Amino acid sequence: MTHRIITIDGPAGAGKTTISNLVAKQLGCVYVDTGALYRGVAYEIGQQGVNWKDDNCLGSFLASLDLNFHMENGHFVLISSGKDITPHIRTPEISMLASATSARPQVRAALLTIQRNIAQSQDAVFEGRDMGTVVFPDADFKFFLFADLAVRAKRRHEEMSEGKTDIQKVEQDMKTRDANDSQRKEAPLKAAPDAVKIDSSHLTIPDVVKIILKNIQKG
Ligand code: DC
Repeated sequence: MTHRIITIDGPAGAGKTTISNLVAKQLGCVYVDTGALYRGVAYEIGQQGVNWKDDNCLGSFLASLDLNFHMENGHFVLISSGKDITPHIRTPEISMLASATSARPQVRAALLTIQRNIAQSQDAVFEGRDMGTVVFPDADFKFFLFADLAVRAKRRHEEMSEGKTDIQKVEQDMKTRDANDSQRKEAPLKAAPDAVKIDSSHLTIPDVVKIILKNIQKG
């Protein structure tokens, strides 16, 4: 039996996480935040002091990686070797390290297997950068969500420590990450040719959810 797969890709701050979670809730299926998986890898690399630029070191680290997830009160909870690491993966440092380490083909290959295994057993909404292009090229519905850099930085700034961080720094980090993620050789951030592209710069979250659900119902 094949399962219904919906992909939502796009850059940081476009609203993917909230929107994907809401779409999955409406459809009654599982939601997978693949950025959290990349963040989990980066967190463990940092904790274990892995020399991730070395193929052998990275390979043995990935062989021992044990990532799982579940939903708790509507939130994605990331478990690494039985430990909840969710509170540690959203820092600016982990964002940058996840962006850098996600460019390594070995990291992408390890997570590709995990992601496809999840899709074997259930309908799911997958959120990320390369869901519609590389991981699930045959997905049933594909969306690409984007927004102006200044709008995305403002949103992220508001989310982070109640706006106490410097907005210029948030915007600069986002710009660096956009460049890393879209210029890497392996599975760069880009819209699949058959994805529905949505500019969320001037749309509310419920507006975007509505557009996505309408497209799926039209199916
Ligand atoms: O979606 P996010 O900001 O939590 O993702 C963190 C980093 O992980 C992002 O900068 C690039 C990487 N990533 C990726 O390469 N492929 C994905 N499918 C999801 C995230």
